[in-house]
Amino acid sequence: MRKKIGFFVLALFASVLFIGCGQTSQGKGLIGVVMPTRSEERWNKDGMAVKEGLEKLGYAVDLQFSDDDIPTQVRQIDDLITKGVKVLVIASIDGSALSNQLANAQAAGIPVIAYDRLLMQSPDVDYYVSFDNYKVGGQMGDILITGLKLDQATAARPVIIELFAGSPDDNNSVGFFDGAMDKLRPYMDRGVLRVPSGQLDRAVVGTLRWDAAEAQKRMENLLSANYSGNLVLDGILSPYDPISLSCLEACKAVGYGSTPGKPLPVVGGQDCIVASCKSILAGEQYATVLKDTRSLGAATVVLVDDILQGKTITGLDTTSYNNGAKIVPSLLLDSVIVTKDNLQADVVDTGYHTAAELGL
Ligand code: BGC
Repeated sequence: MRKKIGFFVLALFASVLFIGCGQTSQGKGLIGVVMPTRSEERWNKDGMAVKEGLEKLGYAVDLQFSDDDIPTQVRQIDDLITKGVKVLVIASIDGSALSNQLANAQAAGIPVIAYDRLLMQSPDVDYYVSFDNYKVGGQMGDILITGLKLDQATAARPVIIELFAGSPDDNNSVGFFDGAMDKLRPYMDRGVLRVPSGQLDRAVVGTLRWDAAEAQKRMENLLSANYSGNLVLDGILSPYDPISLSCLEACKAVGYGSTPGKPLPVVGGQDCIVASCKSILAGEQYATVLKDTRSLGAATVVLVDDILQGKTITGLDTTSYNNGAKIVPSLLLDSVIVTKDNLQADVVDTGYHTAAELGL
């Protein structure tokens, strides 16, 4: 009997110790963070910024990358809900594919933050943290307006461009494309800017899963179908750095950049990835849009902490982002156009990329 009591006390002590350890190792609680893929530079930076920031505040973080595969992302979110996370931070692959998971999170009392990409068609999204995607699109348009000197263009020699958009299942693609087109359309209407392929519709010019190889194929087809004569492509609207670099490759393959009268087209981009910074410094890609993942990560960390501390969240935009089921209160950050002229100041001096990373 004494032995049995002794064993019981020991077991009780061990379990208290175990629970205690669990609490200590999870600090202020476990936060689930899900990023779409590890294979893109930005999502790694985003994931680390959120994880490190939360850990500094004493939270434990379960960070998952979903390999751009929807069933994987679904499974990861299911697992995080089962683990009892206190908040879910989700950058989706397909913004409309997670409604069941979001409903389960809601039922379990777990607040959900849509990270960078809006979660669509669900009432179970509490906040959205992103950049102002329409403004980002406007900057993509501005890059072409400046780079192609559209204000000096005449209808006698219209400037020639082709258009690319992002993944159709990513709501951000709408803001990027509409923002850019609202800047470019007036030049098209005046006849000083022309798209020879006639492909103007977001659905037609979109790139599923932001796949740069798919974009390169489309660029090759556009060049062979529309530019076989003397017509020269002057610029490309690109929503994403790897797409910009692929399009430049397709152009180089048919003599752009190496034939008199055929300079590389002016192309912008987005994300300020290392390869694009190098290309900008080499005078190939014209510009990119920097969306500082450190700021987005930091804003998310503050939001998570404020939610869990029961603080009132301020600075929310409560009109712009309707996900089809509700207007999602949003925190929207500013982005910066980067060209050769400000790359040192805005990218290197701020430590976004080191000089060594850029080969400087
Ligand atoms: C993000 C972009 C990124 C793209 C591809 C978008 O949702 O806002 O920054 O380039 O996804 O990953």
